[in-house]
Amino acid sequence: MNYRDYIAIVKDFPKEGIIFKDITPLLQDGPAYQSAIEEFATYANRLHADVIVGPEARGFVVGCPIATSLKIGFVPVRKKGKLPRETVEATYGKEYGEDVLCLHRDAIKPGQKVVIADDLLATGGTISATIELVEKLGGIVVGLCFLIELTDLNGREKLQNYDIFTLMEN
Ligand code: PRP
Repeated sequence: MNYRDYIAIVKDFPKEGIIFKDITPLLQDGPAYQSAIEEFATYANRLHADVIVGPEARGFVVGCPIATSLKIGFVPVRKKGKLPRETVEATYGKEYGEDVLCLHRDAIKPGQKVVIADDLLATGGTISATIELVEKLGGIVVGLCFLIELTDLNGREKLQNYDIFTLMEN
C-alpha cells in the first residue's frame, strides 16, 4: 500500500508558510484506512500492549480502531478542561503555541504496557507530553506509532528512548 497517495498536501494552512499534511483522504478510503490500522495493530500486538493511548483529536481516529481490533482498551488524552474527573496534566510547546494535555488519573494502571498512537509526529511536543502523562501514572510506554513523520522537525530527538513506528516520512 502506498500510503503517500492518500495524503493531501495543503500549502499555507493553517497559516502562511506551513505546508499541511491532510490525512483525511486516507481515512475516507476504506482499504487504505484498514490497512494502516492493521499494520499498527500488528505492531501493538507484537509489543504486548495492554492499552492504546491517543491524543486529541486525530490520535482518536488512529488509536481507537487499533484498540478495538486488538480487543483492548483505548484511553483519550485531552486538552485541558475536557475530561470530567481527576486528571494529571502536562504542559507542552507545539508547532503553533503552548497547551496543556490531561489524562484521567485512573486511566492507566501501574505496570500496564502502553502504545501511543497519533496521526503525525512533527516537533514531538504532543507525544512527549503524552508519554509524561502515562509515565506519571506508572504506565510503561512500549511503542509509538504514527501515520506520518515530518523528519525536518526532529521530533524523534525528543523520543530517543522509545520505539517508533511510522508508515511514511515527509
Ligand atoms: C497535531 C497532530 C499531532 C500533533 C503533532 O495535533 O494531530 O497530535 O499536532 O505535532 P507535534 O509533534 O509538533 O506536537 P493538534 O495539536 O493540531 O490537535 P488536533 O489533532 O486536535 O487538530
